[in-house]
Amino acid sequence: STVLKIAAVPGDGIGKETVPEGIKVVDAAAERFGFKVEWTHFNDWTCENYAKTGTIVPGGIDEGIKILKAYDSIFLGAVGWPGVADHISLWDLLIPIRRAFGLFANVRPAQNLPGVRCPLANKKPGDIDLLIVRENVEGEYSQVGGRIYQGTEDDIAIQEAIFTRRGVDRIIRYAFELARSRPKKHLTSATKSNGIIHSMPFWDERFNAIKKEYPDVKTNQFHIDILCARLVTNPEWFDTIVASNLFGDILSDLAPAVAAGGIGVAPSSNINPKERLGLFEPVHGSAPDIYGKGIANPIGQISSGAMMLRHLGQTEAANAIDRAIAKVLADGIKTGDLGGKSSTSEVGDAVAQSVATV
Ligand code: NAD
Ligand code: IPM
Ligand code: MN
Repeated sequence: STVLKIAAVPGDGIGKETVPEGIKVVDAAAERFGFKVEWTHFNDWTCENYAKTGTIVPGGIDEGIKILKAYDSIFLGAVGWPGVADHISLWDLLIPIRRAFGLFANVRPAQNLPGVRCPLANKKPGDIDLLIVRENVEGEYSQVGGRIYQGTEDDIAIQEAIFTRRGVDRIIRYAFELARSRPKKHLTSATKSNGIIHSMPFWDERFNAIKKEYPDVKTNQFHIDILCARLVTNPEWFDTIVASNLFGDILSDLAPAVAAGGIGVAPSSNINPKERLGLFEPVHGSAPDIYGKGIANPIGQISSGAMMLRHLGQTEAANAIDRAIAKVLADGIKTGDLGGKSSTSEVGDAVAQSVATV
């Protein structure tokens, strides 16, 4: 029977609490649907290790990339911890993995789920169904630039954003493909071509060129500022949204907050649609403010496990996990961030149990 080889990287903080719950649920789904998952645990790839040795991965990130190549996918918790500057830790693990494997599409769904109170009045489960498609390897996240006169009164920081035609075209085209597969067949482009004079007009130009290939998909464009406002006042206007790296980062925290009151339930996939190896991780970070209390919401992690199984062809197992999540939330088994009283592992146990039958 099928054996999936998965690299589990819990990372820092609540990643260490949520990844075991994700594994528990994926294993329960595998058991039911007759395949196996062989996990390799990289528990020491942490900021703690960075503080001790100067790298997150023992031997450095290039070594880490070589190791990860052997797996079908990577299941990650969160990276980042006080004491190691975030621009060091994130550029020593998460961002290099996204880039080295060409995982240019960061797909981040956000829905209002049964049993989860939407912070907007009069919105019921099913009303909000968003898919943020974020460019994941270029754009505003760039190493080009630098500091001049650092530490003086004349200090200057220069940060170049890089938008390549190849990079822009492939994310827009993939977003059109995803939009086409959804009931509303609607794609919004997040732009800022009124204020950012090189990259965003180029983004618009490519969006308008590529949309001719998808006459069946309805489209519109919003500047990022009013898009944020409209997501709060009129979220039902939106379906699939394609955005650059930074805009997509912001939208993908906003969308689950609007739909589900926070980021604890939000999953993500980092993929190259033509490749098998992907990186699957919740949208949230390591949450130092709640780590160690057993109260972190594991749903974002578990749901990322479903996205991983779907990407690896285990569609039925992925669908069962989604149904189990909906059932457990509807039953009121929820962590504190959703207004519930259950612990991280109680929610994980309930989803794992439900996955066996739901
Ligand atoms: P965060 O997502 O870690 O936390 C933001 C807020 O949301 C906190 O109040 C936290 O308690 C809450 N929260 C997050 N996840 C939750 C969950 N599952 N259940 C309940 N509450 C949850 O963002 P931050 O505080 O800006 O960042 C903390 C660290 O994580 C930083 O080092 C940052 O760089 C890193 N980070 C990593 C990733 C990643 O690995 N993909 C993503 C975001 C932030
Ligand atoms: C995310 C995170 C990362 C990002 C950070 C931690 C570098 O916020 O995955 O959304 O901006 O991509
Ligand atoms: Mn983010």
